[in-house]
Amino acid sequence: MSRNAIDSPADSQRRQFISTSAALGAGLLAANGVAVAQSQPPAPAAPAPASPAPASPAPAAAPKPPRMADVLAKAREVMYPVCRVCAECDGVACAGEVPGMGGFGSGAAFRANYTSLQKVHLRMRTVHDVKKPDTAITLFGQQVALPAICAPTGGTTYNMGGKMKEDAFAEAILLGCAKAGTLGAIADGIGDPLEVFEKRVQVLARLGVKAIVGLKPRTQEEIIARIRKAEEAGAVAFTIDVDSSGRAARALPGQTVEPKTVKQIRELVAATRLPVIIKGIMTVDEALAVANAGAAGIVVSNHGGRVLDHTPGAAEVLPAIADKVKGKLVILADGTVRYGHDVLKYQALGADAVLVGRHLIRGAHGAGADGVALFLRTMQQELQAAMVLTGAANAKAVTRRILA
Ligand SMILES: Cc1cc2nc3c(=O)[nH]c(=O)nc-3n(C[C@H](O)[C@H](O)[C@H](O)COP(=O)(O)O)c2cc1C
Repeated sequence: MSRNAIDSPADSQRRQFISTSAALGAGLLAANGVAVAQSQPPAPAAPAPASPAPASPAPAAAPKPPRMADVLAKAREVMYPVCRVCAECDGVACAGEVPGMGGFGSGAAFRANYTSLQKVHLRMRTVHDVKKPDTAITLFGQQVALPAICAPTGGTTYNMGGKMKEDAFAEAILLGCAKAGTLGAIADGIGDPLEVFEKRVQVLARLGVKAIVGLKPRTQEEIIARIRKAEEAGAVAFTIDVDSSGRAARALPGQTVEPKTVKQIRELVAATRLPVIIKGIMTVDEALAVANAGAAGIVVSNHGGRVLDHTPGAAEVLPAIADKVKGKLVILADGTVRYGHDVLKYQALGADAVLVGRHLIRGAHGAGADGVALFLRTMQQELQAAMVLTGAANAKAVTRRILA
C-alpha cells in the first residue's frame, strides 16, 4: 500500500480550515454556555437557606445518559487547541504536535494509520443466518464484551491540555472501560518519577477493576520495580512500549529508556507470572523474536504515529505479521480505531483485539467515565452491525474472507 509520506497542498489547506473552524466552534460553544467536562470533583454545594421542608420532596430526576454529539462537543471545548476533535481523527490538523495529541514530525506515520485502514474494504454479505453475532472474546484469561481495550495513554498536562488531573483521568478511563465490560489501561510517562506511576496504580487498586498497565522500556531494574507495584494493584497484564526507546532525551536525569534485546525480554517474562506484551512491533522478524522470548502478546503499533516519522500504518504491516505468529501469542493492533468497523478490519487482518487511544482520551475529557463507556458501547453496537453485514457470527469467523 502506498504511504502518505508528505503533506499534500490539500492536506495543508484542510489543516488550516480545521484549525480555524475548530477555534470558532470552541468559541461559540463557550459563548453558548456548553458545560465543561468534569475534570475536577464538583465543588460542595452552598448550604441551602433555612426553609420548611416540602411535605413530599419530588424524586430526584435520574441523570440522563450522555449523547455522543454532546460528549464530543465538550471534549472539543475542554481540549482545544491540543485536540480539535475533528470529524475524522486522521492526524492532519495536529501534525507535528508531540507532546500533544498529534503525530510526530510531519505527522505522516499518524496519517498512515488512518489511510492504511481506510484502504481496507469489507465484503458485504446479507444472505445468511447471522442475526446476533457474539462480539465477546477472552483476552489474557478475561472475558471482554468486545475485542477492543484501552491503550495506555498518559500525560494529561503535557499531552492533553491539562484540564484533567492524572488520577481523575485514570479513574475515568478505568471505570468507563469496566462499565463497558472491557479492560482499562494506565500508563507510565517517560518523565514521570516512580511516585507519579504509583499514584496511577493506586487508582487501579482502589477501583479494583481489570486493566493492563503500560510500562516504558526503562532499565530492567526500574521495569521490575514497577511490575511489582502493578502486580500488587491487580494488573491483568503489562505492555512494554519498546517503541519509546528513541526518546531517552525525555527521561529524568539518571534514568533512561532503551531498546530491549531478546535476552532482556526473556528476563522480564521470567520476572512475573503476568502476561508480558511487547508494544511497538512492526516487522515479522521482531514478532517472531518476541514470540520466541516467551512474551504473551505483541501490539502491532507505531505508537499512534508519535515516535518515528514515515513508518507504515499498522494495517499495512499487520497481515504479514499475523501470517507468521497467529496462535503463538496474542496479537493486538492499534492506530485510529474509532468505529466498530475499524475493530472488525484489524481483526480480519489478523489481530485478536485492538487498543483504542485518542478516541477514549476524548471520551474521558468529554464526560468522564460515562463518556468512555458511551464510546465503547457505541463501538460494540457498530461492530455487531458490521458483523451481521459481513456474515460473521463471532471472532473466529472474522478472517480475511470478510475483506473485499
Ligand atoms: C496522548 C497520548 C499519550 C500516549 N501515551 C502512551 C504511553 O504512555 N504508553 C504507551 O505505550 N503508549 C502511549 N500512547 C500510544 C497509545 O498507547 C496507542 O499506541 C496509540 O494512541 C493508538 O493510536 P490512536 O490514538 O490513533 O488510537 C499515547 C498516545 C497518545 C495519543
